Amino acid sequence: MSLRKLALKLLTPGCFKTNKPISDQKSQTSKEISSRRLSLSDVSNSSICTVLSDLSNSLIGSNLHIFTQKELKKITHNFSKSNYLGEGGFGKVYKGFIDEKLRPGLEAQPVAVKVLDLDGKQGHREWLAEVIFLGQLKHPNLVNLIGYCCEDEHRLLVYEYMERGNLENRLFKCYGGTLPWLTRIKIAIGAAKGLSSLHEEEKQVIYRDFKASNILLDSDYTAKLSDFGLAIDGPEGDETHITTCVMGTHGYAAPEYVKTGHLTTMSDVYSFGVVLLELLTGRRSVDESRHGREQNLVEWSKPFLKDSHKLDRVMDPGLEGQYSTEGARKAAALAHQCLSHNPKCRPTMSTVVKTLEPLMDLNDIPIGPFVYVVPTEEKNKVPAYRIEREGQAECEVVKNGKNGEEKEVEVKAKGRHRSRKGHRYRNRIKSLRSSTVYSDTALYRILGTGLYSPK
Ligand SMILES: Nc1ncnc2c1ncn2[C@@H]1O[C@H](COP(=O)(O)OP(=O)(O)OP(=O)(O)O)[C@@H](O)[C@H]1O
Ligand SMILES: [Mg+2]
Repeated sequence: MSLRKLALKLLTPGCFKTNKPISDQKSQTSKEISSRRLSLSDVSNSSICTVLSDLSNSLIGSNLHIFTQKELKKITHNFSKSNYLGEGGFGKVYKGFIDEKLRPGLEAQPVAVKVLDLDGKQGHREWLAEVIFLGQLKHPNLVNLIGYCCEDEHRLLVYEYMERGNLENRLFKCYGGTLPWLTRIKIAIGAAKGLSSLHEEEKQVIYRDFKASNILLDSDYTAKLSDFGLAIDGPEGDETHITTCVMGTHGYAAPEYVKTGHLTTMSDVYSFGVVLLELLTGRRSVDESRHGREQNLVEWSKPFLKDSHKLDRVMDPGLEGQYSTEGARKAAALAHQCLSHNPKCRPTMSTVVKTLEPLMDLNDIPIGPFVYVVPTEEKNKVPAYRIEREGQAECEVVKNGKNGEEKEVEVKAKGRHRSRKGHRYRNRIKSLRSSTVYSDTALYRILGTGLYSPK
């Protein structure tokens, strides 16, 4: 968690209430509740026993498993350091592995187990929000909540394991090398579909904490939203907004929400615009190591977004110009619109999805010096190349020589990542350098990694 959380008030039951009077909420019988999606406001005044019983009634069809702490300890090797994935405001996250014997019908799979830090700032309410929202909302671009544990004061959550971690780490901490252009667009589309699915629910959901660290990435870079601790039901009936205490993350939260506490789905659209900017520029929404205006990404980049002659000044230098100019222009204009000061001028998330999807098909990405194919020293042999991705020990032999021989070659890493990778290979391939070049896009086509087909 790198950014300051906006929490002008501690999370109190009042923070989750809509404008609906408490008496109305209390008069709902559990029968009424079970016939529609259970809301946080339905249970915010109930005891934990009632909540758990309401949960098990309402979430019956959602396949949520209830785990014991003992079981979760076992699958994470007693929450061992070697299984540690990271830590956020909720607490520490560990990798675990569920085998087919743990629960009938639950398939063997790796999982991520989030453990509430009992001394931390978050608590039961965030846990409950996560269980209530993710237990009921199922979508390919929302992380799958497999189950939970609620024993004494302990609160744990069990999710599907997302192999490539979160977008913040991939984009800014150089895990796995610079993300290519089309991968960034694929991620933007996935995350936009996730948000759009929430906004299009019969009873709208406002996510409220859309940011790079809450976007998790699957092995094929499918993006899924995680962390529903701050999610809240949107306005109902004639209401135009809900009024709530200001929560979210500095640098991503919409200015009108920070100023007035008025929350709409358009607040999420603003935050999406910030993440889209991060994808385009490779810069963090707030970066205190930069000077003056450049510390705030939106303030600094906004004047360049609508001017196609100036756009290259803000594009991520790590891309080395290997992006679709038309795609960048359209994505920048879209980001500009999402960041409109007036929420009514922002597009809906379904319009965002429709605008981004065609960008995957643009083929004006320049062929640049990304992959160096190193020929064998014997001139008459067809070169081979293989790719090794940092941090994953993942090697793929792409092509063999004419004689079926495999040759070790270098994949030149890009941007900030390059020197490390270059160093790793230097001794092995020094004498085999060649100027033959392939672009990353050509490479993906050869590999068929699916980056051209967002799902
Ligand atoms: N389902 C998952 N699969 C793989 N890694 C995960 C999963 N869920 C969380 N993580 C990792 O665990 C770490 C902590 O995540 P968490 O969402 O708790 O905090 P955060 O997003 O960094 O901060 P914040 O509290 O502001 O949301 C991150 O590095 C994240 O990538
Ligand atoms: Mg998070």
